[in-house]
Amino acid sequence: MPRASLLRNALLAAAGDSRLAAVARRYGRRIGVARFVAGESLEECVPVVRGLNARGLLANTTVLGEGVTDTAAAESIVRQYLAVLDRMDGELLRANIAVKLTNLGLDFGEDVAYRNTARLIEHAARCGSFVRIDMEESPRVDATLRTYRRLREAGSERVGIALQAYLYRSERDLADLLPLAPNVRIVKGAYLEPADVAYPRKADVDRSYVRLVEGALRAGAYTAVATHDDRIIRHVAEFAAREEIPAAAFEFQMLLGVRPQLQIDLAKRGYRVRVAAPHGPEWYPYLMRRLAERPANVLFVARNLLRP
Ligand code: FDA
Repeated sequence: MPRASLLRNALLAAAGDSRLAAVARRYGRRIGVARFVAGESLEECVPVVRGLNARGLLANTTVLGEGVTDTAAAESIVRQYLAVLDRMDGELLRANIAVKLTNLGLDFGEDVAYRNTARLIEHAARCGSFVRIDMEESPRVDATLRTYRRLREAGSERVGIALQAYLYRSERDLADLLPLAPNVRIVKGAYLEPADVAYPRKADVDRSYVRLVEGALRAGAYTAVATHDDRIIRHVAEFAAREEIPAAAFEFQMLLGVRPQLQIDLAKRGYRVRVAAPHGPEWYPYLMRRLAERPANVLFVARNLLRP
């Protein structure tokens, strides 16, 4: 296995280690987590989002955390998101929310996650906002897609889904979703997945990514092109121009702290660009996935740690 893949796998495995999480939390600020995370609280997140908006960028935020230990914890997350929606609305910020169903109680039953997400969507609608459902590990994809479909069939409009290009199944999933006129975010995929469900080779993931984006755009689905990949971004811009797909039919999405100049350049060229600016004290697994995506980020963290 190439060295980069070994490092990626090690970092993704470490993302699930609670002892490492406790150690990392102790050194949070020192390891430079602020580059990727918009603070540990909503209070810290608001100025970050305001700064993004001031630079012509849209935003979303996530209350970081994956999996909750009981339904009371899921209820607490729902309340935090309701407060986020109120605050973004009150401050006239151009930002919505992105949620993980495990954080909203999926492991305690699809009904729990469904009801909690429905509450957030209802509130988001009142605030003129929107709820994006992230996609998590492959064993959760079916439940996530079922929940999204159920929400849409119950009449919820202000909700979107995400599909991961590394999964073989995603093209079929997209085809199944298209009759719903979905608002779909396409990502490459950030988890450690076995070769029987996900393309092991990056070149195949990239090709799948382009097929998914083109398929979604051609079908008229509002598409969030969530990537920092220059080549793909250029390709999508050219494809949209050639196919006469209006700029209002899609948006680029990137992560806080990743390619900030590219975010601004695209916005200046008239594209809608949304930056994911998550917040909360449970930032450790999120940070580990960002390190896994780019080994140079490990050096960034190490340099911060060694700084006197
Ligand atoms: P790729 O990994 O090929 O990187 C292309 C180039 O971008 C790299 O060469 C590097 O220069 C730069 N780059 C990428 N990641 C970087 C990083 N962390 N730090 C610095 N530079 C980096 N995944 C998932 O499984 N479910 C989800 O719901 C989401 N949601 C989501 C939302 C948004 C807005 C984004 C941008 C991403 C996600 N992801 C996700 C994560 C996604 O699956 C993927 O892991 C990352 O986007 C990295 O892949 P790229 O598409 O950027 O390409």
